[in-house]
Amino acid sequence: MTVFQPLKFPENFLWGVATAAHQNEGNNTNNDFWAWEQAGHTHDGTISGLATDWWDAGRRRAEADFARAAEMGLNTLRLSLEWSRIEPEENRWDDAAIDRYRQLLTELRRLNITPMVTLHHFTNPLWLAARGGWLADDVVSRFERYAAHAVAALGDLVDLWCTINEPLVYAYLSHLVGDWSPGRHSFPQTFKIAARMALAHRAAEHAIHARQPQAQVGLVKHQPIFDPLRDNRLDKMVSGWQEMLFNRRMFEAVYENRLRFPLNLFAREISVGRDDFIGINYYGRQTVKFSLGAPFTLFGKLVAPPGAEMWDAPWADREIYPHGLYRVCRQAAKYKKPIFITENGFADAADTRRPRFLLTHLAALHRAIQSGADVRGYYYWTFVDNYEWVEGWSTRFGLVALNPETQERTPRRSAELYGEIARANAITPAMVEKFAPEAMVSVFGMAGNGA
Ligand code: BGC
Repeated sequence: MTVFQPLKFPENFLWGVATAAHQNEGNNTNNDFWAWEQAGHTHDGTISGLATDWWDAGRRRAEADFARAAEMGLNTLRLSLEWSRIEPEENRWDDAAIDRYRQLLTELRRLNITPMVTLHHFTNPLWLAARGGWLADDVVSRFERYAAHAVAALGDLVDLWCTINEPLVYAYLSHLVGDWSPGRHSFPQTFKIAARMALAHRAAEHAIHARQPQAQVGLVKHQPIFDPLRDNRLDKMVSGWQEMLFNRRMFEAVYENRLRFPLNLFAREISVGRDDFIGINYYGRQTVKFSLGAPFTLFGKLVAPPGAEMWDAPWADREIYPHGLYRVCRQAAKYKKPIFITENGFADAADTRRPRFLLTHLAALHRAIQSGADVRGYYYWTFVDNYEWVEGWSTRFGLVALNPETQERTPRRSAELYGEIARANAITPAMVEKFAPEAMVSVFGMAGNGA
């Protein structure tokens, strides 16, 4: 009989969940995404409203969720600061907002949950949006000033800082696909914003380290796997373009100080910095086929490969591909820095596929660690169902289900599973047997043991 050995994670591994200000705080009225919702741009017509109601200090819903996370055995939580609360008007700084963040961060630390804090997670203050958002000429210095203010006010409570979440996703959805505010369709603007965000990352990193030299600072990069659908030149060419523009260029800018968005052959040097870690958000594989009908994705159409297991709508062109987590860790390992999986998750209201998703992805992560990638922590996206941007409330990523009307929380089975993994710092055969027995071979087989 085959006896599988538990997959043990390194000592002091961080097990957490990731969240973002606009998706969780509620009544976040002073930014461009709130305005976009009010203007009727969400696909399901819903608005963020109270979100998960984390901002209100009286109702203490954030504090209650933090207590739940601690009880589960989680030892870290990623949240973001809302620029439009901290600097509600240009150059006016709000102490009450800082006080609320201090309360939240102090509470996390009291519960022995290490906070990881992101400065920019998609939303912009209305005053900045009115001046052109990330196309405004002075946006990099405005962002740097905000970063300096945040670190001066909160640095004693935070050691792990993420500067910007997913620059390419933001640039692409807001200025190329036009699904997000301000709804543009421009390649040059998209690339300009991507370059600006690389520069803003560097400026914020300097600003943080200048005030808090021991802080660990990193960028968070959404890193899909792009593979060609067929083994032919055209499919390989277009999937290679996507990989280059969406993935490689940003790594080069941040870790090799060579900025070349979009295609300029001669790289611009950017100032050398000190990134302490690489943040990776991984959600799946996109398989690319050459198509003249897909100009916004550089003539690469996303097509499901035969037999692949895909996500549900609206991401039905994204494959559930656990091995990709191994591959993105290997890509990042080249830079010889600590890696955090700052997001990985699955939308599954019924929670029928999520336990298997978690187990198979964590097995792939374990394998990456065994191969030498210095992965320090994993953040599941997300803890409590939260507001999913233009998808609104129609997609559910949470370990804990939320009724946004009543704010009632109901843990899903995946919460129980994730808690068991975090407390054991391992995946055991008993866990797989209990939560997703069909994944036994892929979980332990993938790790190459137990044969
Ligand atoms: C973003 C999150 C989002 C998640 C799920 C990530 O790209 O950082 O804000 O909710 O994906 O779609």
